[in-house]
Amino acid sequence: MENPAQNLRVDSARLWNSLMEIAEIGATPAGGCNRQALTDEDREGRDLFVRWCRDIGCEIRVDRMGNIFARRPGADNSSPAVITGSHLDTQPTGGKFDGVYGVLAGLEVLRTLEDNGIRTKAPLELVVWTNEEGARFSPAMVGSGVWAGEFSLEYGHSRADKSGITIGEELERIGYLGTEPVLPRAIKASFEAHIEQGPILEKQEQVIGVVTGVQGIRWYDVIFHGMPCHAGPTPMEDRRDPVQALSMLCERLYREVRAYSEDARITCGDLRAAPGSRNTVPEEVVLALDLRHPIPEGLNHLHGSLYRLAEQVQEETGTRVEVREEWYSPPVAFDENCIDAVSRAVQTLGYSNRRMVSGAGHDSVYVSRVAPVSMIFVPCEGGLSHNEAESAEPGHLEAGCNVLLHAMLKAAEL
Ligand code: GLV
Ligand code: MN
Ligand code: MN
Ligand code: MN
Repeated sequence: MENPAQNLRVDSARLWNSLMEIAEIGATPAGGCNRQALTDEDREGRDLFVRWCRDIGCEIRVDRMGNIFARRPGADNSSPAVITGSHLDTQPTGGKFDGVYGVLAGLEVLRTLEDNGIRTKAPLELVVWTNEEGARFSPAMVGSGVWAGEFSLEYGHSRADKSGITIGEELERIGYLGTEPVLPRAIKASFEAHIEQGPILEKQEQVIGVVTGVQGIRWYDVIFHGMPCHAGPTPMEDRRDPVQALSMLCERLYREVRAYSEDARITCGDLRAAPGSRNTVPEEVVLALDLRHPIPEGLNHLHGSLYRLAEQVQEETGTRVEVREEWYSPPVAFDENCIDAVSRAVQTLGYSNRRMVSGAGHDSVYVSRVAPVSMIFVPCEGGLSHNEAESAEPGHLEAGCNVLLHAMLKAAEL
């Protein structure tokens, strides 16, 4: 029998308009978004999301990590749900698409089904995960991580920002400390739409990335313990200067990482010097370091280089170099059936595509611990993300959303 929904398409203008409307919350003068996790702006974004979902009859649940679940009942509510979703939080200088596209693409799928009076057999759930970015509170993906059992709820609630305010306190303050236990219910399949955040699709002129997995990520705080002293009278050879040790370590580590493999990544995203005075050699410098590689052996190799070079620099400079591991998200492979559901939807819709591994972390990494998962990527301009200039074409966003619609319909059945 012909599938009665095979000609169904999402409303591109409505998807775009919703993206632009929510982008006004936390809008920055440079055209981006600053809607960091659990701020007033995040609350406003969540409130708008909840209102939009209630408008189409979804039932809302919020768990004790502030993850929001909007449920559209199916014809058979004893069936496990098909889920989709992403995050509404942004980087401090974030764009209009990272995360929020996955949430609003899911909303557009539900709106399209509602408009057309289509009831799937399995219920559908649209999820907003708490603190995916890891920018305000480390680590990234902590809401989905607690939900999937990677972290305890106490760990999740106790994560603090730079001023010592915790996730638990902020959830309570903004009214999103829900009452539901943070536990996965049975899930049939999960799909997440996202901008690629890299240049491959655009360079190769492909519309859809069929995502087969996510590369590994390891986060560290590297602490250089120096001796504070006066910038003028103290001879250079009498100093223990943590910045000199830091620069030696960075120079060697960048060189080794680049020589090791073109797939390896190193980022020093944040540096804090204490006490932070121009004319005092710092007592301490803390470097927030991010290492990535698509395969476990590669990431282990980079991890080994870091420890070896830290020890080398400590010996040569007499400055104590302490490496503290903050977070490890191993490479994951997504579910073959879900990848296939995405591939088939792409083929039916006739979009150019390629298979690819995600360079960025996503909530789907933790969701994949407890459910079959895949992701759908669309190109972004110049491959740019975590930047206020992040941009994507309406036609590409529409294509990714149509793929999401058909992958979900296939998994949820009619
Ligand atoms: C999250 O955005 C990450 O990949 O770091
Ligand atoms: Mn994201
Ligand atoms: Mn991001
Ligand atoms: Mn991410």
